[in-house]
Amino acid sequence: MMHFNTKMLIRSLQKAKNAQYVFRNASSGLPDLTKDRYPVNRADFATLGDKHLQFFRDLLGPQRVITDPAECEGYNVDWIKAVRGYSTCVLKPKTTEEVSKILSFCNDHTVAVCPQGGNTGLVGGSVPVFDEVVLCTSQMNTIYDINDTSGVLICQAGCVLESLDEALAEHGLMMPLDLGAKGSCHIGGNVSTNAGGLRLLRYGNLHGNVLGIEAVKPDGQIIDLLSTLKKDNTGFHLKHLFIGSEGSLGVVTKVAIHCVPKPKAVNLAFVGLPSFENVLKVLKRAKRDLGEILASCEMIDESTLEVCTGNLKLRSPIPEYPFYMLIETHGSNNAHDEEKLNGFLGDVMDSGLVLDGTVTNEPSKMKNIWDLRERITEGFILDGYVFKYDVSLPIEQFYSLVPVFRQRLSNHPDIVRITGYGHLGDGNIHFQVSCKQFSREILEKIEPFVYEYTSRLKGSISAEHGIGFRKPKYMKYSKSPESIAIMKDLKKMFDPKGILNPYKVLPP
Ligand code: FAD
Ligand code: MLT
Ligand code: ZN
Repeated sequence: MMHFNTKMLIRSLQKAKNAQYVFRNASSGLPDLTKDRYPVNRADFATLGDKHLQFFRDLLGPQRVITDPAECEGYNVDWIKAVRGYSTCVLKPKTTEEVSKILSFCNDHTVAVCPQGGNTGLVGGSVPVFDEVVLCTSQMNTIYDINDTSGVLICQAGCVLESLDEALAEHGLMMPLDLGAKGSCHIGGNVSTNAGGLRLLRYGNLHGNVLGIEAVKPDGQIIDLLSTLKKDNTGFHLKHLFIGSEGSLGVVTKVAIHCVPKPKAVNLAFVGLPSFENVLKVLKRAKRDLGEILASCEMIDESTLEVCTGNLKLRSPIPEYPFYMLIETHGSNNAHDEEKLNGFLGDVMDSGLVLDGTVTNEPSKMKNIWDLRERITEGFILDGYVFKYDVSLPIEQFYSLVPVFRQRLSNHPDIVRITGYGHLGDGNIHFQVSCKQFSREILEKIEPFVYEYTSRLKGSISAEHGIGFRKPKYMKYSKSPESIAIMKDLKKMFDPKGILNPYKVLPP
C-alpha cells in the first residue's frame, strides 16, 4: 500500500508515452450509412444543384465551399463512428453575416442544413443523416475580449475549447468547463449541447456560465442576446433556448462566458476501492471534508480502465481494483489544500474504504492520470463498436445498470465488455456495452430497456450528450407529453420549414 504524500508519485509513468488524442478516424473502417442502418426517410428537401453551389461560392469563395468527396467524408461520420451521412457540401463561414446569408438562402430554397462544430458529439447530432449541407464553424474562431476583472470572455462559436483555456490562462482565468474532447470541440458546440464535463461539480453548467449568445435563426435573422451581465432580469431569458437545443433552433455564432479564476493550487488523487459501496462512502466524505476545494469527483470501474491500459496501452499508477476514483481539488493556497486532501486521504485509507492510491500536483503526472479518464471514449472505439448511454440516476443506483446488463446480456459471444464510469459527483454515469461490431440483436436487447429502467428510477435518459439523432423517440422516458409538445411548438416557430438539423432532437 502506498502512503500519500506528494513526493511518492506515480510509479513508472515517466516511461509512458505522451500519446496524442486521435479525434478523427480513431479506428479504421466506416459505419454503414445512417439511412441503411436506421429506419428513417428523407424529408422533402431540395437536392443540391449548380445554382445552390454557385450561390455558396459567390458568398464564401471556392476555398470555403468543400465539395471534394474525400474531404467531405470526415464531416459525414461522427466521432465514435456510429452514424454516417452523405453530404456533398461543407460550408465554412467566417462571420455571422455569412451564416445569416447561408441560412436565409437555404430557408428560401428548402435546403436542409446540419450545423457542426468540432464533430465530437456522441449522439449523432453533428453529422448529416442524408445529404444535408454541413455548416461548419471551424473558421469562426476569433476571440473578441477577455476581461481580467469581470472574467468575461467574448468569442466566436468556432473557438476550440482548449485554445480558449490557453488564451484565458494568460489572464489568470480558466474556462468553467473541461472535457476530454477539449482539443477538438468548439465552444458553440459545447453551448449547443450544454456540455457538462469534468468540473461541473465545482463550476456549474452552461446555463449558469453563459452570460450571452448571438444566434442566427433558420430564416437568417440574427438574434443579439450577447449580454455580458451577470444579472439581468428583463423579460424571458431567450439565451437558454439555444443552450442544449443542439442546433435545432438556430446557429450559435458568438458567446459571452463567465470564466473562473485559474486556481493557484491544483491537487489530484487517484485511488483504488474494493466496492461501489465504498465509492459512495468516499464521495460523501469528499464532499464533507474537502468542501469548497472539491473540483472533480469521477469514478471508473475496473473493466473501463482496461480500455485505457489494454487498448491504449496507458499505464495506471496503481494496481488493479474493482473501482477507481479521481478526486481533484482547486484552491488558492497549496499548503492549505494539501493538508486538507492528505488528511482526507489518510482518513479514507485508515478506515479501509480506499485500498491504494496516489496523489500529485505535478502537471505532467496529473495529465497522465487524467488521460486514464479522458481517453476512455477513444479506447472504447478500439473494441469494435460501442453502445453508449449517458444517464443520470439517483446516486445509490448510479452503478446499478452495469450488473443488470451483465446478467441480461450474459454469454453473448460478440460482447467485449459492459462497463460504467463517469461523473460520480454529478450523478451522471456513462454506461457502455462494447462489442466486436454493430449488432441489431444486441441493440434491441439494450433499447428501450435501458431507458425504461432509467425512467423507472426517475433518472434522465440523456444527462449530458443530448438527444441528437439517436434518441428522439426515447425522449418520452424523461419528458412529459406536454413539455415535448411545447418544444415542438418552439421548433415550428423558429424553423417553420424544418431546415435546421432535421431528423434530430424532437420525436417525429
Ligand atoms: P458537434 O459535435 O460538432 O455538435 C454537437 C451538436 O451541436 C450537434 O447537434 C450540432 O448540430 C450542434 N452544434 C454544433 N455547433 C453549433 C452551433 N454553433 N450552433 C448550433 N448548433 C451547433 N460531453 C459532455 O457533456 N461532457 C463530457 O465530459 C464529454 N466528454 C467528451 C469526451 C470525448 C473524448 C468526446 C469525443 C466527446 C465528449 N463529449 C462530452 C460530447 C460533447 O457533446 C462534445 O464533445 C461537445 O460539447 C460538442 O462540441 P462540438 O463542437 O464537437 O459539437
Ligand atoms: C466523458 O465523460 O468521458 C464523456 O462524456 C464522453 C463519453 O461518455 O464517452
Ligand atoms: Zn461525460
